[in-house]
Amino acid sequence: MIVAVWWGPVACMLTSEQRLDQRIIEMRDHEIDAFDALDAYARGDLGALREAGERLAREDDVPGLPEEAGPMLRAVRSVGASLSSVSSVADAAPQLSTLAGSCGSCHEVLEVSPAAPDRAKDFEQAFFAIALRDEERWSKVADALTPHGGPAATTWSQRQAVLTRSLSALPKPD
Ligand code: HEC
Repeated sequence: MIVAVWWGPVACMLTSEQRLDQRIIEMRDHEIDAFDALDAYARGDLGALREAGERLAREDDVPGLPEEAGPMLRAVRSVGASLSSVSSVADAAPQLSTLAGSCGSCHEVLEVSPAAPDRAKDFEQAFFAIALRDEERWSKVADALTPHGGPAATTWSQRQAVLTRSLSALPKPD
């Protein structure tokens, strides 16, 4: 009995360490795929946009994910799936904002504040501010998004709408 009490927590700690690693790997993929999708959008590259969507939609194993996060992971995959079959780059703006929102709700529910480097472009900063629920990042970019209602947007869902407008207003690549 004493043995079980002693070993139980140790075993649990070890597996949760390993699980954490796997989750972080999955997250780095998410960050890269989301960034690729944004970049493909800005370049008007439909093929690359669809491929990034396909990668986001993939059902990789995420061991040890808390149950309450399941719906958010499925939401990311389902936006990924719709991006993978989008018929034109221009149609993707609202879906990219929805993607940022789905990333953000999971981080919010799990109460994690992931760190990631600042991004060069305003729409990229806005995307990752929403996705990482990062107030400071939002405050850095809000003024630059004034034409799209940046400073007035105080909730994450209002900010998602700002992101959609700023993505739609990007100059169209030839
Ligand atoms: C199902 C929940 C969930 C979803 C959905 C989710 N994340 Fe995460 N994310 C996490 C958790 C949890 C962590 C913190 C790592 C940990 O502690 O397991 C994290 C960490 C991160 C990190 C930091 C990784 C590092 O290097 O430490 C980044 C960047 C990130 N997420 C980006 C994203 C992006 C972009 C999306 C959407 C495309 C996304 N996440 C969707 C749960 C989620």
